[in-house]
Amino acid sequence: MTKRILVTSAIPYINGIKHLGNLIGSQLPADLFARYHRARGNEVLFLCATDEHGTPAELAAAKAGKPVDEFCAEMYQVQADIANRFGLSFDHFGRSSSDQNKALTQHFAGRLAEQGLINEVDEEQVYSHADGRFLPDRYIEGTCPNCGYDSARGDQCENCTKQLDPTDLIDARSAISGSTDLEVRKTRHLYLRQSAMRDTLNEWIDSKTDWPVLTTSIAKKWLNDGDGLQDRGITRDLHWGVPVKKGTEDWPGMDGKVFYVWFDAPIEYIACAGEWVDAGKGTDWERWWRTDKGADDVTYYQFMGKDNVPFHTLSFPSTILGSGEPWKLVDYIKSFNYLNYEGGQFSTSKGRGVFMDQALDILPADYWRWWLLSHVPETSDTEFTWEQFQQDTNKDLADVLGNFVSRVTKFCRSKFGEDVPAGGTYGDREQALMDALQTKLTSYQANMDAIEIRKAAADLRAMWVLGNEYLQSAEPWAVFKTDPDAAAAIIRLSLNLIPFYAALSSPFIPTMAKTMGDAMGVSDMAWPSDVTSALSSLPAGAPFTVPDNLAAKITDDQRADWAERFAGVRD
Ligand code: MF3
Ligand code: ZN
Repeated sequence: MTKRILVTSAIPYINGIKHLGNLIGSQLPADLFARYHRARGNEVLFLCATDEHGTPAELAAAKAGKPVDEFCAEMYQVQADIANRFGLSFDHFGRSSSDQNKALTQHFAGRLAEQGLINEVDEEQVYSHADGRFLPDRYIEGTCPNCGYDSARGDQCENCTKQLDPTDLIDARSAISGSTDLEVRKTRHLYLRQSAMRDTLNEWIDSKTDWPVLTTSIAKKWLNDGDGLQDRGITRDLHWGVPVKKGTEDWPGMDGKVFYVWFDAPIEYIACAGEWVDAGKGTDWERWWRTDKGADDVTYYQFMGKDNVPFHTLSFPSTILGSGEPWKLVDYIKSFNYLNYEGGQFSTSKGRGVFMDQALDILPADYWRWWLLSHVPETSDTEFTWEQFQQDTNKDLADVLGNFVSRVTKFCRSKFGEDVPAGGTYGDREQALMDALQTKLTSYQANMDAIEIRKAAADLRAMWVLGNEYLQSAEPWAVFKTDPDAAAAIIRLSLNLIPFYAALSSPFIPTMAKTMGDAMGVSDMAWPSDVTSALSSLPAGAPFTVPDNLAAKITDDQRADWAERFAGVRD
């Protein structure tokens, strides 16, 4: 039966190009899953967007010397282009600054107010005359009253770790302009009464017994530790963001304020489906998002890094449930640990590690896709090293898969020509191969269904290895000398393995898969229902071509060069 699968990836911040740690932490695994379900014939809607609001976006724009809307429009294009080159197969890549998201964010705030879930709170906050704006705590710097460190931030001293209030700082200054012309002013903000949702959320999370432990343990920790679920400020004194409104009405006392970026960002998951329709790519977004309008048979999967889990298990569900409207709630949250880089962390601010554009400058996307997905940090943090990367991709993609494809097609061309050869029959060795492949295929599908990505990658690799081992032991090159018909049967089966691998590998390495499929004259890449019938899909006489080398090996010189190039600072 065809399933309907909604997939979202955490939406990346607009303020810079993402590194490979970001990529493997949400977008790439989400893409794998979306591609898998499409390949299995399911109806998939896969959405992502840029996360454009908040102070970091404003500051990045200022640093680039551009108006923030212009900066965001440009960075959106850059990110969309890189995502495309990585093969991220979003049905739509939207923007959280879209009109659709503005309207929907204001709608949710209005509904939450009607349901009595919003408090208006008067607060004191630091205003900078020179900057003409209120300063978020972390953008105020000064001397720590506890240890004397002179660059303590308004929320915490990095040196002695003491938690601070901006008013604790000695000689406080703006981290943006350096100005000390600061003043504490009264300002009013909206708070979402998440604490009122605690029992509902607890019950909901308890019902999710199949979720990854990483997801539920983080959710439970925030729900029940210490003070439990805090009410959350959902507005900010900033210029850039969704203007605070109660639905379409003005909100008294909220003039000039915007919603907090973490309030509007997840709402973009929904708004993005509207953007998808408005872009002419779909016809009915409510069918995916409103349970009263057809979304009750949708299964919704979210992908994200572990730092995003509280927002997706507590905050966003509070918005959805609190609205009292029939919006689709997430069914499964897949979260990830961190990928580290050569004994430290990837760092955007320090430019440490490999960034998405740089990665594509040195190697095609599939190398990265394969390595990252087969090492995805599912159960613990993992580490990228150049040595491991070279070793694994050379082995898996060049020695195992690439070598198989090239040996089989080249041997056939030289002995039988560029058609699948007739003659001979399959015997015990062939049956044993098919049985072994069937076992792995069943396991592969089960692991993909369960989003056990490393295990799925291991199953896929094992199927590639089985083909190589078969070829090695069947020795068609030796058999050919005495019994060409028997050699033809070996090659016929081996050639049939290529489209089989192409279909199964396509979620991981779509470009290499397409090369394999094209070479064998197979463009539809049907998912194999069972091994025996899949391995007879190319009949004797079917024409093929020898494809270009699938994956060149990474040399020691390249490795050394890249390790040095990416060790440090990028602007
Ligand atoms: N931009 C955030 C990050 O990169 C993720 C936002 S996810 C959403 O950590 F739910 F808010 F959309
Ligand atoms: Zn200190």
